Amino acid sequence: MYNGLSFLDTLYSDHTTMEKRIVLGITGGVAAYKAAELARLLVKAGYSVDCILTEAATHFIGIATLQAITSRPVYRDLWDTRVPNGMPHIELGRNTAAILIAPASADFMAKLVHGRADDLLSTLCLARDCPLLVAPAMNQHMWEHPATRRNAAQLTADGVTLLGPAVGEQACGETGLGRMLEPEDLFAAFTAFLQPKPLLGKRVLITAGPTFEPIDPVRGLTNLSSGKMGYALAAAAHAAGAEVTLVSGPTALSTPWGVARIDVTRALDMLEAVERRAATCDLFIAVAAVADYRPAVVAASKLKKTGRDRTPNMTLELVENPDILARIASLPAPPFCVGFAAETESMLENAQAKRLRKGVPLIVANRAQDSLGQDDAELTLIDAHGTHLLPLANKPTQARRLIEHIAQLLHPTEP
Ligand code: C5P
Repeated sequence: MYNGLSFLDTLYSDHTTMEKRIVLGITGGVAAYKAAELARLLVKAGYSVDCILTEAATHFIGIATLQAITSRPVYRDLWDTRVPNGMPHIELGRNTAAILIAPASADFMAKLVHGRADDLLSTLCLARDCPLLVAPAMNQHMWEHPATRRNAAQLTADGVTLLGPAVGEQACGETGLGRMLEPEDLFAAFTAFLQPKPLLGKRVLITAGPTFEPIDPVRGLTNLSSGKMGYALAAAAHAAGAEVTLVSGPTALSTPWGVARIDVTRALDMLEAVERRAATCDLFIAVAAVADYRPAVVAASKLKKTGRDRTPNMTLELVENPDILARIASLPAPPFCVGFAAETESMLENAQAKRLRKGVPLIVANRAQDSLGQDDAELTLIDAHGTHLLPLANKPTQARRLIEHIAQLLHPTEP
């Protein structure tokens, strides 16, 4: 069902975030205009967002904009009489999952370090009993100044989570470290922060997307895999606390926040990348649609249909590709291996046979015709004990459910 969220919007959102209240603090910096997009992503993901601006922030972004996006009052004044008990610095921090300050100026970071409380946002930060995350945004020299370095280190020591900054073009015309993270990355990092961490300390390796088996320099054999499921799983595993490496075939998707991505093309490259890391990972999830065969010979120059060699028919000799999943599952001390089975018919029987043939404890079955390239999927999890249905939902939601299921299998005693 379409709910107005793009694929990226839904990557980290689900029913568990609904009704979660958060405070989005906005301080004075050009990047404040991006806070509107961040607020939009959070609202769409089901968060109730209260925006609190410093006086300087109001020079960069309009209160009406944020009010329209969040459908909530926007606050700025320590003496705001709209809060019934007259204590917005206490009230606005109650029942709050976290405070995110984006952008956080150099001045505001300094205020936080010293516990100053001379406006609503700084007073709320001092009075809070919830996590505080800050997304610094400033000129590169301000960020590199020893005072800011000290402040950033002190904030970390005080338990504040710093998100960014990023390197790139700055509003002042310079290029360097100090840009605020992009709203999509902040959204991903912040919402991942709020998720439970059942995979904390685990190393997870995931394959995703198609492989491309070259025939000549411009042609090849590939398949319709979009990579969406594997990328969603990488995001969900990272949000669950894991250190995630994504070995990806060619896709149009951007790398999920916090995930290390290795780009490969052919099945053989994918195998090499996976084998290099398999021994040190705890969990291997093979989602990639790996080509079963590759051309025996790759032509060094473009094959022509004209000329002396022209024939009405053409035969390509193919050789079998290695089965990456089966190889990893047969290691002497394999990680916990999860496979996918996209089937067009006899789904359960074929998937179960595949599970046994490849020697993996868990296989995830889906109907190829319903899920290839789609945003939604229905998944059936098959293990030694039987089947478990994950009813139709978008792939990010399915990814979270699957990661929760796997975490339960890895730690059967934990809730
Ligand atoms: O045999 P089939 O391709 O249907 O198996 C699908 C599962 O095996 C998926 O998890 C896929 O990533 C994995 N696989 C693999 N290497 C191959 C073929 C499939 O890792 N060469």
